[in-house]
Amino acid sequence: MSSAQQSPTRAKRVYIETFGCQMNVADSDIALARLNEAGYQEVSDADQADLIIYNTCSVRDNAEAKIRGRLGTIKARKAKQPGLRVAVMGCMAQRAQGELLAAHPQLDLVVGTDQFVRLPELLLQVEEEGRLAATDFGDFESNGNWSTRRSDGVNAWIPVMRGCNYNCTYCIVPKTRGREKSRPPELIEAEAREAVAQGHVQITLLGQTVDAYGKTLGDGSNLARLLRRLHDIEGLKRLRFITSHPKDISDELLATMAELPKVAKHLHVPAQCGSDRILRLMGRRYTRAGYLDFVERARRYMPEVELLTDIIVGFPRESEEDFQATRSLMETVNFSGAYVFMYSPRPGTGAANLEDDVPMEVKKARCNELLNLQLEMQGAWYQGLHGRSFEILVEGLSKTNPDRIQGRSIGNLNILVDRYGADGEDRLAWTGQLVKVRITSSTSLSLFAEALSPAMVASGA
Ligand code: SAH
Ligand code: SF4
Ligand code: F3S
Repeated sequence: MSSAQQSPTRAKRVYIETFGCQMNVADSDIALARLNEAGYQEVSDADQADLIIYNTCSVRDNAEAKIRGRLGTIKARKAKQPGLRVAVMGCMAQRAQGELLAAHPQLDLVVGTDQFVRLPELLLQVEEEGRLAATDFGDFESNGNWSTRRSDGVNAWIPVMRGCNYNCTYCIVPKTRGREKSRPPELIEAEAREAVAQGHVQITLLGQTVDAYGKTLGDGSNLARLLRRLHDIEGLKRLRFITSHPKDISDELLATMAELPKVAKHLHVPAQCGSDRILRLMGRRYTRAGYLDFVERARRYMPEVELLTDIIVGFPRESEEDFQATRSLMETVNFSGAYVFMYSPRPGTGAANLEDDVPMEVKKARCNELLNLQLEMQGAWYQGLHGRSFEILVEGLSKTNPDRIQGRSIGNLNILVDRYGADGEDRLAWTGQLVKVRITSSTSLSLFAEALSPAMVASGA
């Protein structure tokens, strides 16, 4: 037995593992702050923990399969350590609710996407009354400015809205996150000011359809005005937002992005598909021509705007012709990046009623074909950037090579620079600074650059 259990007075230890999107990461940080206020200490080793939380994703079955795997492994440990508490929060918790408790006796607590801020009380309730599921939708967005624990040095991610009022027929998110709810701009501004004061000079605003921000507030708030409100925070260097729905990108938003120098010239705006027939079955509310019209508008305002897409292949009834339409859409737009997913039926969604009739081998082949296409186009684009200069915000060490530092352009280009200068200077100290670099070489995945001299961009930028 661990020494932990021999000293009942020490702080309880929590380990949290986060799956899924950036919204889940933000939620885990809020959950940790709440638990910390209640006396829990975070540990990075699950074996040390008295409380294990899985913050889950439901977007595709393989996301849920991973979590089912974790729950299987934890069962044996729980048998040996009955005092261990195991909780599931996030989208799978919201989707499966009490079913999870029934299926997994090793689980103590299931907490939905609007209830996780009550984790400390719910854990006490478990001690008093036993296992439980708390999955009601509430309105915590407008009520509180929840404190959070921020880990990443340069970046802060701030949820500005949660939920989704679209009903794309393949998507579980409206069920797991509920109706769209925006946070009041003054709360967001307060949080952003605090984050910048702590040194998080790059802020990314989060929402499932972030460009619909403000609609539910009914006071004229919208994303363009929010960007304007945050832009002049002293010390803020870059302002980003994800993810957008093509239908909600207004001219006002595009003009504001173009005008404000700290706002990233980058839109993550999933097309999902290039065939009108499938787009209609997906319930996406735009046509191929409508999407291309958006692309044209975006590029009119910002000629170098980087467009990132998500694509689903193998949606029910997708024919070879439909697939070719998606391929040709990608060729026409020339996206700066693409996430390509194989369709996975989700229980209770509109498309779950359609037969999942594209065979797995075909889904895989189509997925690979589009990934290769994207790499080819990206490689060619990167080649064309050799010799170009960029201002990058240095984010820290490269994730794959500790002899390089990594930064991002005002678009979304990830650029790598040698960590040590000719004079031996350790450029890791540039983290959080804007520096000037020139692209020297590339692969289809990475861009390499040299630092210009002087590299540092004058502050106040
Ligand atoms: N809120 C965002 C992202 C939703 S989920 C948006 O609206 O764009 C992220 C991506 O997962 C989606 O863009 C879609 O491409 C993919 N996705 C969602 N449901 C899926 C499913 N059932 N099968 C495969 N991919 C899916
Ligand atoms: Fe899902 Fe569509 Fe909403 Fe995005 S817009 S979260 S894909 S329902
Ligand atoms: Fe997954 Fe929920 Fe995010 S389903 S992608 S964790 S909104």
